Amino acid sequence: MICVPSGVTNVERRAVILAAKNAGAGEAMVIEEPMAAAIGAGLPIESPGGNMVVDIGGGTTDIAVISLGGIVASASIRVGGNRLDEAIIRHIRNTYNLMIGDPTAEEIKIKIGSAYPLAQELRMEVRGRDMVAGLPRTVEVTSEEIRDALSEPVRLIAEKLCTVLEETPPELSSDIIERGITLTGGGALLRGLDRLLYSVTEIPVRVAENSMDCVAVGTGRALESIDKIREAGAVSDL
Ligand SMILES: Nc1ncnc2c1ncn2[C@@H]1O[C@H](COP(=O)(O)OP(=O)(O)OP(=O)(O)O)[C@@H](O)[C@H]1O
Ligand SMILES: [Mg+2]
Repeated sequence: MICVPSGVTNVERRAVILAAKNAGAGEAMVIEEPMAAAIGAGLPIESPGGNMVVDIGGGTTDIAVISLGGIVASASIRVGGNRLDEAIIRHIRNTYNLMIGDPTAEEIKIKIGSAYPLAQELRMEVRGRDMVAGLPRTVEVTSEEIRDALSEPVRLIAEKLCTVLEETPPELSSDIIERGITLTGGGALLRGLDRLLYSVTEIPVRVAENSMDCVAVGTGRALESIDKIREAGAVSDL
């Protein structure tokens, strides 16, 4: 069972399955990532009601509404953790004339990054290379300024979420309002992202337990209940 991003073409699907078979798999199937994420998060995907999952990875954010084991509405944007890291690098460069690398940017994001005002704002020391003198220099950055730097990519995620909600059939929207939206993926761990998305959509938002593992766990579970899943059309093979 192999995960593919939502919205891949049939040719791409086939290519993945053939690659798995060429690598020695007797049988190979693909499942769309948001579907795997929803299963991993424990959502009742086979129920007739609507389930909404937002999987925020490193490269992409995948948003899907799932009902009766199938994806009803979905979107994928190339905005995820990497874009947040890039926004931090740009901010530090423009504000302090300081160059930092990807690992430092990710560290800042994880240590003090946020999408919504914090009860206790944070700060940390950041070391980089001065762009003029070329020498190492240390500055102190605050969670407020990092939130500001992250606001653009975060807004893009929120906007896409609203688009998918608008495309969702009304009878499923009412389920989603009741059940809430589930966030998965490493990006779901950004402080206050749930609150920010709640403030935009006015729908309850929760971060899945072990959000970073949902896709992998869900892929495994899909394999365990393959007959049921196959019947619902959530997976495809050749
Ligand atoms: N505590 C945290 N706060 C914010 N972001 C985090 C946190 N922990 C991990 N991340 C980010 O989560 C991202 C990785 O998430 P995940 O493992 O879900 O991605 P992926 O599945 O590899 O990517 P994709 O789904 O785009 O292929 C990275 O950008 C990482 O920086
Ligand atoms: Mg992922």
